[in-house]
Amino acid sequence: MDKILRGIQSIRGSISVPGDKSISHRAAMLGAIADGITEIEGFLMAEDCLSTIDCFRKMGVEIEITYENKGRIDGEEPGCEGFDSRPESAVVKIFGRGLYGLKKPDGPLCVGNSGTTIRLLSGILAGQDFETEITGDESIKKRPMGRVTWPLKLMGASIDGADGGSRAPLKIRGGRLKGIEYKLPIASAQVKSALLLAGLYAEGSTIIEEPEKSRDHTEIMMKAFGADICRESNKIRLTPVERLTARKIRVPGDISSAAFFLAAACILPDSEVIIENVGINPTRTGIIDALRLMGADIQILNERTINGEAVADIKAKSSGLKGIEVGGAIIPRIIDEIPILAVAAASARGTTVIRDAAELRVKESNRIAAMVEGLSGLGARIKETADGMEIQGTNRLKGGRVNSFGDHRIAMSLAIAALGAEGETIINDVDCVKISYPGFFDALAELNKFGD
Ligand code: S3P
Repeated sequence: MDKILRGIQSIRGSISVPGDKSISHRAAMLGAIADGITEIEGFLMAEDCLSTIDCFRKMGVEIEITYENKGRIDGEEPGCEGFDSRPESAVVKIFGRGLYGLKKPDGPLCVGNSGTTIRLLSGILAGQDFETEITGDESIKKRPMGRVTWPLKLMGASIDGADGGSRAPLKIRGGRLKGIEYKLPIASAQVKSALLLAGLYAEGSTIIEEPEKSRDHTEIMMKAFGADICRESNKIRLTPVERLTARKIRVPGDISSAAFFLAAACILPDSEVIIENVGINPTRTGIIDALRLMGADIQILNERTINGEAVADIKAKSSGLKGIEVGGAIIPRIIDEIPILAVAAASARGTTVIRDAAELRVKESNRIAAMVEGLSGLGARIKETADGMEIQGTNRLKGGRVNSFGDHRIAMSLAIAALGAEGETIINDVDCVKISYPGFFDALAELNKFGD
């Protein structure tokens, strides 16, 4: 589906964004291998997290989905009676089968577009004494899996896959694993998490060293489920326990979804938004730091801690932004928000240089190439570099026809760029927003209603 958007003056209002994708995945996974019933409030009902649910159902885990005040909807694809479309958030109950209770699925598991599902689940599958095949869509089949399969093999799993085991589909046969000490070649929370999950099934401790600190939701949640896990500077040590114990989880709003509206409020004149109940785990707040460095007026309000995760309301206002240099340790903390940062940079004064971000090339799309093409199509002066991009701010972008490359974050970033552009923009293939934020365009319309 194509989306036509016109430049607008401002956005105003107060909204909440759907639940954090990374936390939703982890809650479902740990719930499935814990003893007891894990109740997850605010679970993100977007395609990626539904893929995780589907995989565990296929391994015998009972999962019940309830929409607030609207009764229970069971089955693989919720019927959603009484709704125009599936609500974005639900209460999900996972009837845990314990560490050793998963059963061999009847056929291959499919993760759709979800890199988090395939990588983290590979860690769990490496600990099972049955063989599983795991695959996904065309984008997943292109993404690098060797970064996970290589260390899992070092732990004792046997894994085959396309391209010598470095691409999906993967065939994973687990069994007796041994803990390893492993230095991650790149800061990747998905790889770290896969190894920690495998470590639950290993003999001896698993020690992982990260070059830079990546998101630590797995560590926080594992601890809450009773795992023996601790961090000393850049090293995380996990020692197996007999069992994990189910618990109640409240998922905060996803800062990666909030980021689109924060950037929009900063670049559009006369704008002010408050986004309520957003996770502000410091491993995820690079976008706030970067926008503030650019001169953004962003305030953190009503800060609190829920399930060990920092949560707050975030207020952003129109701000005269200026170009900055971004690279080094901030990159893992802003990795998913670099496309929207590029949009902010395109309407800032001066030059923005983004470096050390070559990982963007192996996300759902090549996000460096996709943003350079998209923003150039809207009149931005932007140049691709090997590990990032250089953007010269311009007074006002111009509408045009642009491509999402089927990547949810590219579609949403270009939508915000379109709001700041003069005239009309057509973005092709925006259905992909349902990967992480099905109601994105409705939320945008809601904020615009109180704007212009
Ligand atoms: C994620 C980690 C990041 C991020 C992805 C979600 C996670 O990937 O880009 O959207 O939930 O662990 P990498 O670990 O590959 O950096």
